[in-house]
Amino acid sequence: MGFRQLILTALAIAFPVGIVFIVLASMGQLGVGTAILSALLSWLGVVAMLRIYFGDLRRVARYATDLRDRYKGTPPQHISFAAASELSSLYTQIAAAFRDRIALLEAQTSTDAEILDHLPNPVVMVNRQRVVTGFNRAAKGLFHNLETGRDLTRFIRDPILLDAFDDVANERETMKHAEFVLASDAHRHFDVLTARLPAATGDRNYVLTFSDLTELRKLEQMRADFATDAGHELRTPLSVLLGFIETLEGPAKDDPDALNQFLPVMRDQAQRMQHLIEDLLSLARIELNEHTPPSEDCDVGKIIGKVAQSLAMKAQDKGMNIRVTSTLDDTGMVGEEKELTQVFVNLVENAIKYGHANTDVEVSISLAKNPPGALARFRHDRIMAVAIRDHSDGIAREHLPRLTERFYRVDTARSRAVGGTGLGLAIVKHLVQRHRGTMQIESEQGVGSVFTVYLPAKTGDNVRKLHTA
Ligand SMILES: Nc1ncnc2c1ncn2[C@@H]1O[C@H](COP(=O)(O)OP(=O)(O)O)[C@@H](O)[C@H]1O
Ligand SMILES: [Mg+2]
Repeated sequence: MGFRQLILTALAIAFPVGIVFIVLASMGQLGVGTAILSALLSWLGVVAMLRIYFGDLRRVARYATDLRDRYKGTPPQHISFAAASELSSLYTQIAAAFRDRIALLEAQTSTDAEILDHLPNPVVMVNRQRVVTGFNRAAKGLFHNLETGRDLTRFIRDPILLDAFDDVANERETMKHAEFVLASDAHRHFDVLTARLPAATGDRNYVLTFSDLTELRKLEQMRADFATDAGHELRTPLSVLLGFIETLEGPAKDDPDALNQFLPVMRDQAQRMQHLIEDLLSLARIELNEHTPPSEDCDVGKIIGKVAQSLAMKAQDKGMNIRVTSTLDDTGMVGEEKELTQVFVNLVENAIKYGHANTDVEVSISLAKNPPGALARFRHDRIMAVAIRDHSDGIAREHLPRLTERFYRVDTARSRAVGGTGLGLAIVKHLVQRHRGTMQIESEQGVGSVFTVYLPAKTGDNVRKLHTA
């Protein structure tokens, strides 16, 4: 408020008093000089008061300006008028309420961003003009050059995906799935859900959520491969059998020598089919109950003893011995004897089959010193390590990770020659997993291999853990 305004306002306020003095003077009640002096004095009094009042208001206004510009400020110190100081404290309260609200909104926004960043699925937000307006960390991991403010087609060029986006953008649908393969990595399949967001989401009108289907597709492929492999495995012995049958029905009819010669081969082939079917059924059954842990008590030491005994003859045929050693007194655990027998029969049989003649198969039972990471949750308990060591050509490093895959063999002809189905280690792996254990394979070429089965031993708490795991 300017000086002129102050003078004029004071004049306006003092005007009625001035009139009174003029009237009094004109009636002779008051000397002219006294009247003028009194009027002047009361006018000056009003000016002085107004100056203070305007000063208060000006300081409150300055405070309000600070609050408007910076959301903070120091409230004026010396306020004379109660109304002005009330106004000032009201501003303080309003500013505080705003600050709280802003802090809340900011926290909310950063929490939302944080949550988005912690989602494993890539998420990209797009506006009506198909310009990227936001994305999470996973999306950045997928499209390294992703940037806001750029057209979506700079990052995604797949026509199927863009068509799906257009369908949603043109309001033909509120959301739509589309499958796409990452241009930079043909092995990665994604399902992309494009959805329209409610109008109140600012410049984030559409959201694209990516779900990785790679593992699922791989699994589907594996299942298809498995059926094909099983078919092939069965076809070979079957066609051999049929060939012999045709020969015996035709050219070798009534030839007892041929019959005697063919019959053992036919039996071999039929047995091979029988083994294969048994293994296939076994695998299917194991997969079904893999997720229900065993509940019976058993003794690994005893099981190994029986297995060694039952395979002793087979070993002796190759001039081999099965030597069992144990450093544990108590080898009890929660497990199914039949299944653990199957595990160790498979492993010892492999050691006999693939080991050199006249060498020993060594089976040792001990306490695991460094159990594999997969068993970390049993770190407070005893883990038994059952190692089956053979002396053989060994297995080349590149085969090791794949040995437990179904039908995976290092040397198919050799495996078949020794009556293998290629399913043994796959069965072993599932059975060990069902017992909450794990298997490690080590091999040195020209020396031999060690297959170590780690199993949680039955000690106190362990039993409960096995059941709740
Ligand atoms: N002790 C071993 N020494 C060398 N190779 C082995 C041994 N155990 C398994 N293998 C390799 O792993 C493959 C898969 O084993 P497995 O599943 O038991 O099938 P198979 O029926 O052929 O024995 C075998 O074909 C063989 O190539
Ligand atoms: Mg085997």
